Amino acid sequence: MSTDDYPTFVSHLECSATGERHEADRLHGLSRAGKPLLVRYDLDALGRALDRDRFTARPGTGLWRYTELLPVRRAEHRVSLGEVTTPLVTLARTGSDGGRLQVKDEGRLPTGSFKARGLALAVSMAQELGVRHLAMPTNGNAGAALSAYAARAGLRATIFCPADTPEVNVRECALQGADVYRVDGLINDCGRIVAEGTATAGWFDTATLKEPYRIEGKKTMGLELAEQLGWRLPDAIFYPTGGGTGLIGMWKAFDELERMGWIGPERPRMFAVQASGCAPIVRAFEAGAEHAAPWEDAHTVAAGIRVPAAIGDFLILRAVRESGGAALAVPDEAIMAARERVARDEGLLLCPEGAATFAAWEKALDEGMIDAAAHSVLFNCATGLKYPMPEGGTPLAKDEPVDYTRFGRA
Ligand SMILES: Cc1ncc(COP(=O)(O)O)c(C=O)c1O
Repeated sequence: MSTDDYPTFVSHLECSATGERHEADRLHGLSRAGKPLLVRYDLDALGRALDRDRFTARPGTGLWRYTELLPVRRAEHRVSLGEVTTPLVTLARTGSDGGRLQVKDEGRLPTGSFKARGLALAVSMAQELGVRHLAMPTNGNAGAALSAYAARAGLRATIFCPADTPEVNVRECALQGADVYRVDGLINDCGRIVAEGTATAGWFDTATLKEPYRIEGKKTMGLELAEQLGWRLPDAIFYPTGGGTGLIGMWKAFDELERMGWIGPERPRMFAVQASGCAPIVRAFEAGAEHAAPWEDAHTVAAGIRVPAAIGDFLILRAVRESGGAALAVPDEAIMAARERVARDEGLLLCPEGAATFAAWEKALDEGMIDAAAHSVLFNCATGLKYPMPEGGTPLAKDEPVDYTRFGRA
């Protein structure tokens, strides 16, 4: 008789490169081949046990709704800060004629970003597997989410970020109880420090795809999207791609849903969006390569996608190609222009990474890569409120007369 509080259907973990099986319920980093591990479930049993329509009718929102498709077994290990189902906001003014353009606004999650999904799972599993001290290299939002969920669970967190990481992120980490270091380098330099500390100080490395559970949290973006759309998928998804966990996670979610018989074989075209100043996946995609060579002198205003080398590069490229999508690079000027345009015309304040997906969507439309009638979903992965905004506001002295005539009559 199982002592689990939640009916999980995890069967094992699998090396994403070789397919080698690794035992579930053990602490794992990378596979024996040094590649990301993916959690596998008994999907046939899951499909038999869980009826889609009964599931849809059951109450509850947020990522823990998908408990049977997640690995946490014990209620006492589940760490939550009140995760919500993030809305799909339609862009009616800036969308194409006859098409449907929607933004999945992940900025509504705890800590203001989609990193909450991955870290809720990683920290819950760290509790389940007896980890006490978590470490992470981050471009900002992941560190903020790690520090919050670790604080919630009473675990230690040590974080290394590039010195020019958005100030708000560094302060969030510190305020939420983590030891945070500003490293004179990029995220890969931070990753090296964490790997060394893991070997010498016994930290647990929670870097993207170096532990198996963040991706399980990120896959809930795909589960949630499918459910929100009545178990249908859009024609295209535009995802701001750094480490690529969300893109790989959603692709995994769609496969799992199909195996359970909840969706058919149709898939959205996956567009991996990068900044022109750091576009290793785009370069590899265009060259037809399986892996991406590290990008030199990486720079962009979109800090979250400034990732010169991603350990899951082959998984991102595979999903993009299998889906018939593409990897697209957009310059910083287009990112900032998109941010201003969507804020002004739609009232939706995007983060720079989210704005990059809008710029890439426009580019795909202009270049005929997607149809004007397509239903596209853009991922805004963090709240726009965390990022600098251009100055605004007209000064007005207390006694200065206002020239009301310049407003015209409403
Ligand atoms: C706002 C934002 N968008 C996108 C990304 C990239 O996410 P992923 O690592 O899943 O590619 C990040 C990562 O830091 C981020 O903070």
